[in-house]
Formats: sequence, structure tokens, C-alpha cells
Amino acid sequence: MIGSQKVIDYLNFLLGGELAARDQYFIHSEMYAEWHYGKLYDRIHHEMQDETQHAQAIIRRILMLSGTPKMRVNEINIGATVPEMLQLDLDLEYQVQQHLKDGIALCEAEHDYVTREMLVEQLKDTEEDHAHWLEQQLRLIDMVGLPNYLQSQMAEVSPDIV
Ligand SMILES: [Fe+2]
Ligand SMILES: [Fe+2]
Repeated sequence: MIGSQKVIDYLNFLLGGELAARDQYFIHSEMYAEWHYGKLYDRIHHEMQDETQHAQAIIRRILMLSGTPKMRVNEINIGATVPEMLQLDLDLEYQVQQHLKDGIALCEAEHDYVTREMLVEQLKDTEEDHAHWLEQQLRLIDMVGLPNYLQSQMAEVSPDIV
């Protein structure tokens, strides 16, 4: 099937964001593992897998529309402390959220309703899962204080292999 070139180009732009999110979560999850914050590791490792699935869905859709996926990763931002890492991840999710909304509007204008549906699903994951969880962690840190929060995240790190 031949898709709208505008949609294909925009999907490639979104792909760069998903790959950046995946890589940022990858590094952050390994930092949590090293620091023995097993609970943060589990959650962020899982986010990395979610972002990989988002990227995969976008790649598959680009191919189906007869486009060429470009593996160009957007800039990533690695924090040095737990609150900084959570905030940088949240900033990235907000950025992705805005880009997804713009993409949904573009798909609407181009009458590509199936791509639109895929992006709506990713927007739901972004808002209700990823961003919401990060907002909750930052609020917990405010409410209980950083040492208490960090203590609550300590656990054995599960021996996941990517
Ligand atoms: Fe994503
Ligand atoms: Fe996300």
C-alpha cells in the first residue's frame, strides 16, 4: 500500500523519539540496577520494552505504507540523581505526547485513520502509563522526602536480559 509521504516522514520523526526514549530508559534502568534500586529498575526496564514496542509498531506501519524506516535516534538526556532522572524521563514523555498529538492531527488531515489509531494507542500509553507514573514518583518524593522514597525503591535486581 502506498501511504501519504507526509505521514511516512512524520512517522520517521516519531520513530526517532521512541528510539531516544528507549535508549534513555535503557541507560537509566542500568543505573538503577547498579545503585540497587531494584523496584525502579523493574519499572524502567519495562518502560524500555514498551518504547521498543512503540518503535516496532511505527517501523511496521512505515513499511506497510511503502516507506523506509530511518534509525535516527533523537537526543537523549541522562540524569545524575534519581529525581533528575525521573524528571528528564517525564520531560521526554511530555515531548513525545505533544509530537503524538501533532501526528494524530496530521493523520486526520491525510485521512490515514489506521495510523491515527496506532498513534492514539501510543498517546494513551504515554499519558496514562509512562507520564502518569513519573508524575506520581516526583509527587511521592515531595511528600515523603527523598531518603524515604529511595529506601522504598531498594530491592534485589531481577536478572533480566534485554
Ligand atoms: Fe513511546
Ligand atoms: Fe513513553
